[in-house]
Amino acid sequence: MPQTPIQTVLVTGGAGFIGSNFVHTLVEERPDWRIVNLDALTYAGNLDNLEAVEGREGYAFVKGDVCSREDVDRALDAAEAFGGPLGVVHFAAESHVDRSIESGLPFVQANVMGTQVLLDACRARGVGRFVHVSTDEVYGSLGKEGFFTEETPLAPNSPYAASKAASDLLVRAACHTHGFPACITRCSNNYGPYQFPEKLIPLMIANAAEDKKLPVYGDGMNIRDWLYVRDHCEAVLRVLEDGRAGEVYNIGGHNEYPNIEIVKAILATLGKPDTLIEYVRDRPGHDRRYAIDAAKIDNELGWRPRFTFEEALPLTIRWYQAQTTWLQRVRDGAYREYYARQYGS
Ligand code: NAD
Ligand code: DAU
Repeated sequence: MPQTPIQTVLVTGGAGFIGSNFVHTLVEERPDWRIVNLDALTYAGNLDNLEAVEGREGYAFVKGDVCSREDVDRALDAAEAFGGPLGVVHFAAESHVDRSIESGLPFVQANVMGTQVLLDACRARGVGRFVHVSTDEVYGSLGKEGFFTEETPLAPNSPYAASKAASDLLVRAACHTHGFPACITRCSNNYGPYQFPEKLIPLMIANAAEDKKLPVYGDGMNIRDWLYVRDHCEAVLRVLEDGRAGEVYNIGGHNEYPNIEIVKAILATLGKPDTLIEYVRDRPGHDRRYAIDAAKIDNELGWRPRFTFEEALPLTIRWYQAQTTWLQRVRDGAYREYYARQYGS
């Protein structure tokens, strides 16, 4: 029996990459739970990701901004109308590091202001459990050795990471000052279906499929610790049901690769030549290495990843190959303008 019984979940950012995967995970693994999805539908929010749950009994979508108390209250009203103990999982955020380097203010607005508005509204309703989905990037960059633990000091390096660290501190303060029952999760890089193709893996798959250049930043030797999105969603569900209030849980799969190896693996799987790789100007302030020590969530909650990289990367590549309409729709319009600014013609 879970320690926190839940019957209704308010998911923020449920039309984005991880949020939509989380909604699908809940539908499969907790089919009797009701779900309210509050999402502003920014460029990264896409209702195509949720076609399979649209119209489902016990699912409601509320278009709204977490920075607006009115919108958040509307979503909480919808969740309360479903009834039963309520949990909140907060994914909504501006999430792309390169965009935060272009302009930091939208990140402060959505990630910092939005989190405080949500905390205030949820506290006023006596929400029983709140999970704040954060990131390993709040810890900064590692050298060749070592791992991020929950005790690693916060040292965010990009405006995105700084805004997430600020939101983590607001959640921490709500727990400490008001006894608000929140947990914070800090996960490493996710990959899988429905990821917006501005992020490394879907961008490289999409470009390679069209024989376009694959832009690798700097020397391509920056290391990320990759986790299949379904594993992340299952970890968040474990924390929602059984995490201890006030605690931080790191999530990761001990799956470190330099970027260039990921890019070459994608090309090899697609049968495309390495000559498509183009080394480009490095990301300013580019963190060299992330690696998560996930011993705490394993020891306390018994969570471990189920998917290996060897099985889930090809699964992911096949998913994008099959979803040509999905890809084309997200790569239209405003995305093209961003891509031209970021990478030139
Ligand atoms: P995403 O950019 O794909 O999706 C973000 C979603 O939030 C979108 O649907 C967007 O419309 C919505 N949103 C943005 N601003 C909003 C606002 N003000 N009000 C309501 N909705 C808003 O992001 P993602 O990659 O799915 O990341 C989700 C969360 O997980 C973020 O908090 C991110 O920091 C965290 N995270 C991501 C990763 C990763 O590898 N992608 C890893 C660890 C943690
Ligand atoms: O670690 C968790 C974080 O992972 C999340 O908090 C962020 O929301 C998510 O975007 C991701 O951040 P990264 O900056 O690590 O992911 P991104 O996919 O943008 O880049 C991964 C690596 O690939 C990074 O070292 C930069 C590099 N890269 C990225 C792009 C988009 C390239 O070399 N070329 C590219 O075109």
